[in-house]
Amino acid sequence: MNSRRDFIKRAGLGTLGVGFLGCSSSKEAAAYAFDEIRQSTLKPHKQTFNMCGYAAPAIETVRIAFIGTGGRGTAAVGRVSRIEGVKVKAVCDIQPDKAEGARKLAERGDFSPDVYTGEEDWKKVCERDDIDLVYICTHWELHAPIAIYAMEHGKHAATEIPAAQTVDECWQLVETSERTKKHCMMLENCCYDFFEILTINMARQGFFGDLIHVEGAYIHSGSLLGRWDNWRLKANRRNGNLYPTHGIGPVCQVLNVNRGDQLEYLVSLQSNDFSIGPLVKELAATNPDFKPFINDSFRGNMNTTAIRTAKGRSMMIQHDYYSSPRIYSRLHLISGTKAMAQKYPLPAKIAVGHGNWLNDEEMKKIEEQYTPELIKRIGEMAQKVGGHGGMDFLMDWRLIDCLRNGLPLDQNVYDAALWSVIVPLSIWSVANKSAPIDIPDFTCGKWITNQPFDLTLNGGGTTGLI
Ligand SMILES: NC(=O)c1ccc[n+]([C@@H]2O[C@H](COP(=O)([O-])OP(=O)(O)OC[C@H]3O[C@@H](n4cnc5c(N)ncnc54)[C@H](O)[C@@H]3O)[C@@H](O)[C@H]2O)c1
Repeated sequence: MNSRRDFIKRAGLGTLGVGFLGCSSSKEAAAYAFDEIRQSTLKPHKQTFNMCGYAAPAIETVRIAFIGTGGRGTAAVGRVSRIEGVKVKAVCDIQPDKAEGARKLAERGDFSPDVYTGEEDWKKVCERDDIDLVYICTHWELHAPIAIYAMEHGKHAATEIPAAQTVDECWQLVETSERTKKHCMMLENCCYDFFEILTINMARQGFFGDLIHVEGAYIHSGSLLGRWDNWRLKANRRNGNLYPTHGIGPVCQVLNVNRGDQLEYLVSLQSNDFSIGPLVKELAATNPDFKPFINDSFRGNMNTTAIRTAKGRSMMIQHDYYSSPRIYSRLHLISGTKAMAQKYPLPAKIAVGHGNWLNDEEMKKIEEQYTPELIKRIGEMAQKVGGHGGMDFLMDWRLIDCLRNGLPLDQNVYDAALWSVIVPLSIWSVANKSAPIDIPDFTCGKWITNQPFDLTLNGGGTTGLI
């Protein structure tokens, strides 16, 4: 490696734009790596309409198009097809067998969706006039472009995680949603896991006292390989927390972020990569698909990002996907002046002092007292349908039930933008020796008066299973 340019090319960071990396002259010493990321956080924005608490007109039968029907999209077609009051109208994937597989699955729900397989057919899908919701499960780069195009064409958008890759894309999602008054929900399923929702309700009712500190993580030895065009391996040629939303979503909901508190700034630190690069080289020896990557640099194994909120709380978010032989962890830790909760390692635990965790009987009492209506009414059904233990179905069901009853969504476009913007901001901080960077306020100050989302199912809960 003999120049910054070489490093950037090898690290696969070119598409994010190039600032200064490392400094030798005094002129460069004052500059930041990836300065365009920092610059993009400084642009002024004004809210044109507040989508927090916005209830779109009710839709009796929600007509849905799925774009990207690989692993995740196909599973979504299967789950959503079981919900009352939906119609699967279209499935779209550039791999014809994937689109066909999704079509067949939808047939089981008695739907006969049209199949699209062209590279830009997602535009045709969004342009149709008989679709209400576009459900996006492609690779990351297409999430924001499709969601924006869908809203521009009068559709609500639901996108897999993260919703965007750049600060500008996050703002475009917000501004498009406000202008079109179309929902843009990021499908952060971990916000619907049973213990996470329980802790949100406990926090609201003061169980933890004043909230001080929270932690979230996604540590998973799943595989970066085996996806269309190796997109996930390619996307991991950047340093930063590239998949922050599983960790940050649930703890932001506990803290009422965007609705009473706000994220102010972050610092981010990354280890080196000790295993992805070596594995790619090993694979390349027998599999030509990996040869193009043997000189690439990959994401450092562990990213740790620390965030401070406007109300003076602290947050620690970690990410290590497929690179270390660690026990699966979607750490969800809440620490307050009266109590703490921690999930992962399992089973989840609660403590009210530094002595012992609460015992099974005490835990049961807490569950009885604090389990929210959503889980009481839909929890069993969700566990039957499944998807990460039921949380995926709870998320889909709640989205459809809100649309059918004209209710605000639990996760709005400000959540999608805020939780996703950790990707570019952590990239910036890691590249600048963990320097602090301000986090944009996508609500433009409305977080002070925005109200928490509803946990009671009031006005809804009318959607069944088919
Ligand atoms: N929330 C979760 O728990 C969870 C779990 C797994 C994956 N995901 C997310 O789901 C998304 C998809 O991941 P995956 O594992 O299913 O990947 P995948 O590669 O299996 O699926 C992506 C699909 O997008 C298709 N695609 C690519 N370009 C397209 C285009 N122009 N038009 C239409 N389709 C196109 C590909 O052919 C592929 O089938 C990612 O964003 C991932 O982060 C979320």
